[in-house]
Amino acid sequence: MKIQFESGTVNYLDQGAGPAVLLIHAFPLNHTMWQPQLATLTSRFRVIAPDVRGFGESGPPSPWTMEEMANNMAEFLDRLRISESAVVGLSMGGYISLPYYSQYPQRVRQLVLADTRARADTETEKAARTDMIAALEQGGIAILPGRMIPRLLQPDPSPDVVRLVREMIETTGVSAAIHAVAAMRDRADSSTLLRRLQCPALVIAGQNDLITNIEESRAMAESIPGGRFVGISKAGHLSNLENPEEFNRALAEFLL
Ligand code: MLT
Repeated sequence: MKIQFESGTVNYLDQGAGPAVLLIHAFPLNHTMWQPQLATLTSRFRVIAPDVRGFGESGPPSPWTMEEMANNMAEFLDRLRISESAVVGLSMGGYISLPYYSQYPQRVRQLVLADTRARADTETEKAARTDMIAALEQGGIAILPGRMIPRLLQPDPSPDVVRLVREMIETTGVSAAIHAVAAMRDRADSSTLLRRLQCPALVIAGQNDLITNIEESRAMAESIPGGRFVGISKAGHLSNLENPEEFNRALAEFLL
């Protein structure tokens, strides 16, 4: 399904009935990464899973910031007449969820931060993002699977998951990827927000996550009042794809 906004078109999945759950995907993927969660969630919830600008079938790819994307999410949910939802953000999705909570706390029933960080990038991480932008400008999207898949998945990943992730990456446009890397590099620090969260919150992390360290995720949960933490075994950064059973169990127990 698609909705037209001034900033472009938002393509999204809207499935199931019940209280709304907004799922925000990781970089450089699209909403189809949530496929393994749909059966569990749609039996009790209305699942809304948009493609972030430039990814999947949302477009056109134009520059954005995390704050702008948070505002876009609010406008998008307004059009669907959803005033309140649970928000589940994985990695880049978490980077968007935090400013969304900051700007619209009353619209967030529950928050799930999966394989993500609240802090900003370090100078070294920012420099790596700038290098990646240069590599994308020179080599196009073809450079991305080789760079990203070993970081997104656990060592010795399932070939099916590799295939799925590769397909999602290869169908991403190079400008969309560049704008998202810039948005991630330039994102603000949301660490102090964690202490001020007033909704129930769950932090999830794959035990072999190479991008967001599991100890850092545990510490994030500890700084949230009443925050819960669940580690997902046999999973890297894309814990929802690598171990959907454990991920879905954690999600369902928390959301119900
Ligand atoms: C993601 O999975 O969304 C990104 O790889 C996160 C990041 O690079 O910080």
